[in-house]
Amino acid sequence: MSRAACLLVIISLMSPAAEALDNGLALKPTMGWLHWERFMCNIDCDTDPNNCISERLYMQMADVMVKEGWKEAGYEYVCIDDCWPSHQRDAQGRLQADPKRFPGGIKKLADYIHSKGLKLGIYADVGDKTCAGYPGSLGYYEKDAQTFADWDVDLLKFDGCFMNRALLGEGYINMSKALNNTGRPILYSCEWPLYEWPLKQPNYTAIRETCNHWRNFDDVFDSWSSIKSILDWTAAHQDIIVPAAGPGGWNDPDMLVIGNFGLSHDQQESQMALWAIMASPLLMSNDLRDICPRSKELLQNKRIIDISQDSMGKQGYRTAKGNDFEVWERPLSKNRLAIAVLNKLETGGPRGFNIGAAPGWKICGSQCNVTQILPQYKEMGVQTQQSKIIVSVNPSGTALLTVTPISSDFRRLHKLNWQGTFVRRKHTIL
Ligand code: GAL
Repeated sequence: MSRAACLLVIISLMSPAAEALDNGLALKPTMGWLHWERFMCNIDCDTDPNNCISERLYMQMADVMVKEGWKEAGYEYVCIDDCWPSHQRDAQGRLQADPKRFPGGIKKLADYIHSKGLKLGIYADVGDKTCAGYPGSLGYYEKDAQTFADWDVDLLKFDGCFMNRALLGEGYINMSKALNNTGRPILYSCEWPLYEWPLKQPNYTAIRETCNHWRNFDDVFDSWSSIKSILDWTAAHQDIIVPAAGPGGWNDPDMLVIGNFGLSHDQQESQMALWAIMASPLLMSNDLRDICPRSKELLQNKRIIDISQDSMGKQGYRTAKGNDFEVWERPLSKNRLAIAVLNKLETGGPRGFNIGAAPGWKICGSQCNVTQILPQYKEMGVQTQQSKIIVSVNPSGTALLTVTPISSDFRRLHKLNWQGTFVRRKHTIL
């Protein structure tokens, strides 16, 4: 094969299958905060003014994001979910915010959020009504897209409730065009495949051309069983969904629930590590005004965020499982690899795992540099293919490492890695 042909093969192996939505956004997985999991549809501002869905909530969250290092860590979008609008459109047929809970209106809120150097996200629905029963956008795509653009909104989460499933794709595509026609770059977060899976296998080429990220599976809850179900679904469908991800468009396994009530610290580490491996949007749903220091430190961990935001933009895969361990691996820029080892046994104590058993370890070649990021940061120095490094993983916890080959025969190894590890359909049995 000529050098040029060889280069083409390498490039095509490394790029996602389809073109991404061409709006210049989400070149890396989106980072920010989204109200839904933590604050749901709490509209009772009389008895619960601190936690109800109101302009105050987003303003306070934005204040904290700037003051407490969130913005600096990369969290940028402050996103409104369901239950923000009034039940009636205005005289011109436009959506309007609930006047009691958003007295300044969304444009003012956007101005405030922008004055903090952050971006504002909003929520609407492709069908007749939102999932919580507020006005849907069906029949109003252009009007609503223009309204959001006029308000200087930066992101739209577009839900799929109350929609004829046969028209779902058309609806998502039309809203994408309507947003594009406003001329304002508005990041487009879809739930198209989630609502399509019960009917048929979604067309991920079309989805990637239409949306900047897309939900595939159920809503995340504040529990380990919910996180596990999302990971299981993702691994079971990885051959279909992983190739669709890349700069401009990402699979969205839903919000980070770190810092809430339902996950142990080990489980929070697992969510953070695996969401980084999956190149997922990092949209936290928690109360940043009141979050424990360990959760904050985890969410702001620069080394994990660097994996999430890696410039190559390749989503990772589950590459091995067995003995109640799972190995997930993500190829990173500069020839590196991230390896996550999840201990799925929810009984007993920490268990040792020989990192040399991870399929991607072959990237190490004759020598590599190894860094452990979770559960503790540790430089493990120069290792070889033959090294026996045992990492200790707590029940439902995850060890996260990066491997950097120091090898002159890297090209051969890298190719081997891509074709041998990531394109293979079967898991290695540990
Ligand atoms: C669900 C959606 C959630 C949240 C909720 C609001 O369908 O998946 O993320 O947006 O609707 O009602």
